[in-house]
Amino acid sequence: TKVYGVIGYPIEHSLSPVFQNIFFSRLGIDAVYVPFSVPPEDLQTAIEGLKALGVKGVNVTIPHKERVLQFVDFVDEHVEKIGSSNTLKFVDGKVYAYNTDWIGFLKAVQGLIEPGKRVLLLGAGGAARAVLYALLQRKDRVFIFNRSKEKAYKLAETFGAEVIDRPEDVLKDVDLIVNATSVGLVDKSWLFDYTLIEDRHVVYDIVYGQTELIRRAKSKGAKCEDGLSMLVHQGAESFKIWTGMEVPQDLVDECIKTLRE
Ligand code: ATR
Repeated sequence: TKVYGVIGYPIEHSLSPVFQNIFFSRLGIDAVYVPFSVPPEDLQTAIEGLKALGVKGVNVTIPHKERVLQFVDFVDEHVEKIGSSNTLKFVDGKVYAYNTDWIGFLKAVQGLIEPGKRVLLLGAGGAARAVLYALLQRKDRVFIFNRSKEKAYKLAETFGAEVIDRPEDVLKDVDLIVNATSVGLVDKSWLFDYTLIEDRHVVYDIVYGQTELIRRAKSKGAKCEDGLSMLVHQGAESFKIWTGMEVPQDLVDECIKTLRE
């Protein structure tokens, strides 16, 4: 039996074990996927321990996605550009770092809206970086709004996007609205005036579940989706990196549905 897992802190609420174990059993792979609680000060020791124990691969989540890069041997080109990794693979005592968050986002929005559109991106943190990277692969034109403008400028400079003062200023011009901040279920503050959302807008919220943004967008008749689809898609990409096996689309969809229930 091979062992895979996810490292984060806290890790109790991670949904990855739920669907990764479904992937493994449905696709006939003799493996288990377990959550590992790793406090920041133990990150390096944990990586060494995972290697010593023969763990084959892990997902990496908050707060380790950036700092884990100090402890890996190889990074792929996307990790280098995004500056964070959510997927490690252990091979012959070496650690390979990948980023599947951006592909997860790409696949999640693929079914909602064609590429080459105008996008309002809310947020400029780690998650927003992966989202922006994906949007630019789609050749979307991106307007970034963030509470602290400095961070928005930094992100825009690195990748090539425009910074705006108020989301309301571009709402009429954009087709897609993406929330990549942590505002949602716990912090319920409004990022802009949600009553201005129109039915022609497509709204993607990387937060899981019924956020205020999703609720309002729905009531306006806008097409919208929460972050669970991105989560399962990034997991399917990690699975492919570890096993070489593609997760069938219908199994991905089934897992998204399971998590929504
Ligand atoms: P993550 O890795 O999940 O992106 P992060 O790097 O800490 O986490 O970024 C959190 C994002 O949510 C940031 O864009 C943050 O805005 P600031 O850069 O101004 O801090 C945003 N955010 C968090 N709470 C917010 C709030 N109450 N209102 C607006 N933006 C908020």
